[in-house]
Amino acid sequence: MTASFIIRSLAPEHDRLAFSCGVDALDRYLQNQASQDVRRHISNCFVASPAEGAIIAGYYTLAAASIPVLDLPEAETKRLPRYPVLPAALIGRLAVDRQYRGRDLGAALLFDAIQRAVRAEAAVFTMVVDAKDESAAAFYRHFGFMPFASRPMSLFLPIATAMKLLG
Ligand SMILES: CC(C)(COP(=O)(O)OP(=O)(O)OC[C@H]1O[C@@H](n2cnc3c(N)ncnc32)[C@H](O)[C@@H]1OP(=O)(O)O)[C@@H](O)C(=O)NCCC(=O)NCCS
Repeated sequence: MTASFIIRSLAPEHDRLAFSCGVDALDRYLQNQASQDVRRHISNCFVASPAEGAIIAGYYTLAAASIPVLDLPEAETKRLPRYPVLPAALIGRLAVDRQYRGRDLGAALLFDAIQRAVRAEAAVFTMVVDAKDESAAAFYRHFGFMPFASRPMSLFLPIATAMKLLG
């Protein structure tokens, strides 16, 4: 099913106004803020469209981040040198339009983000996501993301584990 979607950078021809995922803040971000954040090098925005069309079926944002090593469970860091922070790739937002739910598009967007983080020339130790609510957190846990002890709505998945998920 996902083979019929193309995931690429947000571009002016994409129809941002028609996007509706049911979470106002995520719709408004795409409509009003996403392009500015891309222009200012704050975060990149990737969108999924059916075929070559202007329709946005789903989107996510990706940015560089760093996380305090003490935020991670000891099991994840015990073999690492004692660096205070580790490099991360942050999926700040991820949403699928209500019309396109349940077709593995959310999973495809997540895998696309992981692939871009793996391919990036700057090293990434872990993927990090900010979940907007409990349902979003459950979506990420479904793929093996683990909550940070200090802030359960932020979750992480070490890139080495994420690469196994991609096969
Ligand atoms: C969460 C969201 C992105 C899922 O998109 P989707 O395209 O419907 O999800 P998919 O079809 O790709 O689902 C992939 C898998 O995740 C599971 N899944 C989907 N939503 C889930 C949820 N909320 N909790 C737990 N598992 C979930 C599916 O059952 C499916 O499981 P499978 O691999 O065993 O078949 C979508 O519901 C959405 O945009 N919600 C509103 C915005 C939001 O909450 N964004 C999250 C980050 S801020």
